Amino acid sequence: MAQKKRILSGMRPTGPLHLGNLYGALANWVTMQDEYDCFFFIADWHALTSDYEDTNHINGYIRTLMIDWLSTGLSPEKSTLFLQSRIKEHAELFVILSMITPVPWLERNPTYKDQITQLSNKDLSTFGFLGYPVLQAADIIIYKAFGVPVGMDQVPHVEITREIARRFNYFYGNVFPEPEAILTETPKILGIDRRKMSKSYNNAIYLSDPPEEISAKVSGMITDPQRARRSDPGNPDVCNVFEFHKLYTDPETVETINRDCRSAQIGCVECKKKMGGNLIKALAPIREKRIYYEAHPDLVEDIIVEGSNRARKVAGATMEEVRGAVKI
Ligand code: TRP
Ligand code: SF4
Repeated sequence: MAQKKRILSGMRPTGPLHLGNLYGALANWVTMQDEYDCFFFIADWHALTSDYEDTNHINGYIRTLMIDWLSTGLSPEKSTLFLQSRIKEHAELFVILSMITPVPWLERNPTYKDQITQLSNKDLSTFGFLGYPVLQAADIIIYKAFGVPVGMDQVPHVEITREIARRFNYFYGNVFPEPEAILTETPKILGIDRRKMSKSYNNAIYLSDPPEEISAKVSGMITDPQRARRSDPGNPDVCNVFEFHKLYTDPETVETINRDCRSAQIGCVECKKKMGGNLIKALAPIREKRIYYEAHPDLVEDIIVEGSNRARKVAGATMEEVRGAVKI
């Protein structure tokens, strides 16, 4: 059998995952496991770039994130699941790459500029924050990944990674392939207030929300804003609840809702109840697995240790090559 191509991606441990994260990335990772040699890691050093002042939550968030991954179907048998800070080689490569990365490449990075203005409550004028993409480049090329499955927001980082890899190869010889961003279609689900689902907007439905919480959030969802009264016809095309139905309700019922909404045969309260019930059912298996892993923290730690050992072998071999190429 031909060797599977390697892909790699990571997430920062900044809190529990919500449905936006699931469809933005994780669901794709789960399906990619069969086709690719997958490396998925928790970027705890990257979490420090913005949350360096208070690190009390980070350890808990690392466990929560790994449990979110495992309960949605990432599997340590299929993929290498690991923790960035356990592989010191990332830091070594980061140092070397930082020597060859021109500062203007980092200063014009769009996410750098965005975050500095958006997170104005934090002091992000640090060396580490500016160097965020250099560490990310090290994460990616140390495994010689060919592809990086990420959301649109990460494309500039993959682009900088390619430029850094090219510059390294130009100075020291061909060590690194240039990775590509792999973008996948994602459903357009929004937060309960119709804005982008985000932890900071307080509008997210979390994978770990208990059923009562999900019901409460769904009943508060904003529907078609033009539909003021039960007797008004609605428009499912602009309704976020309907987008959720497409994911969680059988196609026949979705068609019925589509029709009945437009003719005011169904009200939003009933429609949401149906959707909420289906959503809770869909999340039930994830919830069960979560409860299992929460009761077995040692198992989660073992998975992190084993995955990190596997990753370290690959990273170590690349660093041998790098030291040879750099003659150091
Ligand atoms: N910057 C990514 C994010 O915020 C996380 C990340 C760190 C990453 N290193 C990576 C993603 C390497 C892909 C590859 O989502
Ligand atoms: Fe949306 Fe359903 Fe209300 Fe129609 S009936 S507007 S699809 S919630």
